[in-house]
Amino acid sequence: MKSSASPTPSEPLADAAIRIDSHLDGAEERSLADDVLDGLTRPFKELPPKHFYDARGAELFDRICELPEYYPTRAERAILEAEAQNIAALTGAVELVELGSGTAAKTRVLLDALHAAGTLQRYIPVDVTESMVRDSAEELASEYPGLRVHGVIGDFERHLDRVPQADGPRIVAFLGGTIGNFPPGSRRRFLRKIARLLGPDDYLLMGTDLVKDPRVLEAAYDDAEGVTAEFNRNVLRVLNRELQADFDPGDFDHVALFDPQHEWIEMRLRARREHTTVVRGLDLAVHFDVGEELRTEISAKFTPERLEGDLAAAGLELARWLTDPEGLFALTLSQIRTG
Ligand code: AVJ
Repeated sequence: MKSSASPTPSEPLADAAIRIDSHLDGAEERSLADDVLDGLTRPFKELPPKHFYDARGAELFDRICELPEYYPTRAERAILEAEAQNIAALTGAVELVELGSGTAAKTRVLLDALHAAGTLQRYIPVDVTESMVRDSAEELASEYPGLRVHGVIGDFERHLDRVPQADGPRIVAFLGGTIGNFPPGSRRRFLRKIARLLGPDDYLLMGTDLVKDPRVLEAAYDDAEGVTAEFNRNVLRVLNRELQADFDPGDFDHVALFDPQHEWIEMRLRARREHTTVVRGLDLAVHFDVGEELRTEISAKFTPERLEGDLAAAGLELARWLTDPEGLFALTLSQIRTG
């Protein structure tokens, strides 16, 4: 673990505008191999969604965000634009921590509001993609004079303890509805870890997609153009490249279903024919029956009750529930429970 001993600040000056710490240590590649070995040898085959996002996967996801059927990105942005000023006034935040910051596209709306309120001092993006953290750090440090950027390159599931101590009231943002990728138990555990980043004056700002008509939900994950289908199949290309597997993505149909019991969308890949795939990097043969499904993602949809229950289980309580005019998506502000 070189990272804990020697983070790699990109600027030697104590008060430099940009500092970047990298905590990547090869564990990400191991986690792909472990996840594939575990997931493809289970009685019900399954892969975690985090492996979608190689360069092509990230590009496909950006295209998904522009699709007419995929409303969450637009709805969340609309809420942010309508409420950023209020959020800045309520929180008085001097810093913004962003988990899974990516290209920091929506971040600017918040940074603008905090900057205009005159409180903004520091931005702390946390992302596993090094180039994203470095590029957005450069851009934002030059766009916002006086802003310090402390980038943390790492996996937000493993490296939350590397987020620097707060310098004053902070917002920890976890946007996009990504909390929905966690199944209920791990979701609560992850929220508990986030809660440890919060002091009594701090807020969690979280995006969650909401329960609605299953037809609207299923269309958002099975668009007419087939972009989501390609995104789903992309995980097979990742396995082919990284683990020398021999999947033919054309052997699988894209499936997206709303499970009303669990209130989540499931994406699956369904084998079009019986076949055996070899994953050479793992010395593993994987058999698929015709019609057999591999689950690639769950994306939980929330009711206010479910969200409050999850927050409470993590020692958090809801301070603001913000939604778009159509009630498609929610942005919430929560604080650690003191009473
Ligand atoms: C990035 C996890 C929020 O669940 O809506 C989009 C990923 N999968 N279309 C989501 C996704 C298929 C997205 N999150």
